[in-house]
Amino acid sequence: MQETVVQETIVQKTANCRLRRVLVALLPAAWLVSSLFAADARAAEPSVPYVPTPQDVVERMLEMAKVGPGDYLIDLGSGDGRIVVTAARKHGARGFGVDLNPVRIAEANENARKAGVVDKVAFYQRDLFATDLSQATVITMYLLPRVNLELRPRLLELKPGTRLVSHDFSMDDWSPDAHVQVEARDKYGGAGGRSDVYFWVVPAKTAGVWQWQLQVSGKPQAYELALEQKFQSISGSARVGGRSVRLQNARLSGDRISFSFAVEVNGAALKHDFSGKVDGDVISGEVSLSGSRMQSRLDWSAKRAAAKTGFVTPSIPTLSLAQSTR
Ligand SMILES: C[S@@+](CC[C@H](N)C(=O)[O-])C[C@H]1O[C@@H](n2cnc3c(N)ncnc32)[C@H](O)[C@@H]1O
Repeated sequence: MQETVVQETIVQKTANCRLRRVLVALLPAAWLVSSLFAADARAAEPSVPYVPTPQDVVERMLEMAKVGPGDYLIDLGSGDGRIVVTAARKHGARGFGVDLNPVRIAEANENARKAGVVDKVAFYQRDLFATDLSQATVITMYLLPRVNLELRPRLLELKPGTRLVSHDFSMDDWSPDAHVQVEARDKYGGAGGRSDVYFWVVPAKTAGVWQWQLQVSGKPQAYELALEQKFQSISGSARVGGRSVRLQNARLSGDRISFSFAVEVNGAALKHDFSGKVDGDVISGEVSLSGSRMQSRLDWSAKRAAAKTGFVTPSIPTLSLAQSTR
């Protein structure tokens, strides 16, 4: 398996090679066209045709999600069960797959039996849209762009930190946390082709106004943080002692948040580096304070004061911050 952005440069000399090139060009297009006509037929028939993920791509997907024995993996549209079975056999994970096609379910059960993992996995003949995903720590998909987008609101409601891996199709404007391209020789029944693997971590919902106090040099100091969020991307400003400053290095991965700012406190410039864990309307963690007069590390706990409005939030008005800026 070669992992890179690959340009097909081999001159195709034989009829077989020409056929392969035509197949590679036509398969994704045919797949996309079929999806356009399947929009309302979901309940009656599979909304995505069966095309298995090449085994080396399966391995790459599981590696990207760092699947391990503590994981519970759900494959949406599980085909012959290869992703769930590999996760159990090679990584010790548990999980299940769902597929509408009973032939696929029978194949998956047989593959689980051959791999000796029937105690760890299950396969259900079920519509993926009617499947409870709350147990998952990892969700894998080889569906279609339209289906991914339809699933997206539900995926964003999963427990923060849930990992998602999609073969070949992205989630529109929800940028992946990681993306690799894999050259897979056994793609499309041996025709070969490039596979894209996309990885996301479900982010906690952090948009809103957060407040806390710290004891700085023995004096209580009030802090207010206004956070904006688009998927896993966060930005905003902090108000401290009447001054407003933009956040630096603001990051969110699952329920882990970190950000920094430098602001004058008690007459001295002080760099603040916060890190913590988001749990609903509370963030708990640590802050490191560094300035010419002090270096310290304190526990930190913030509470959300203003209601959030969802994942893609409008700008939080900064009027009160600007008004109070000296
Ligand atoms: C592209 S295949 C992927 C199979 C497997 N996940 C893999 O990567 O090898 C998509 C699978 O989804 C199944 N499928 C399509 N629509 C579905 C739905 N609404 N609910 C459950 N399964 C579905 C199809 O039967 C097919 O087996």
